Amino acid sequence: MTKVTVALPPLDAGRSVIVEVAGQRVLICRTAGGLHAMDEQCPHQQLSMEGARVRHNSVMCPHHGARFSLEDGRSLSPLTAKGLKFFPCTEHGDHLGIEI
Ligand code: FES
Repeated sequence: MTKVTVALPPLDAGRSVIVEVAGQRVLICRTAGGLHAMDEQCPHQQLSMEGARVRHNSVMCPHHGARFSLEDGRSLSPLTAKGLKFFPCTEHGDHLGIEI
């Protein structure tokens, strides 16, 4: 894994955003507990999670509604047994360190 630092766009709790990290699109979600970084491709039909909604420590794909835990990325939906790949991340003010 390589640690990469990227600029972090403003992101309120309960929101998500896509950032590009080392040529890879990464979904960033903010909860009251902090930030989570994960693969932005939904394992259901490999569509982008851009616009994903964050609710109660889970993130929901905007296409068919599959939900994934923000604790470890596991699927919480019958649509897919596969989870989202998580990347360790650390917030430093307006920047984010991601191990990818
Ligand atoms: S592509 Fe995400 S739920 Fe279907």
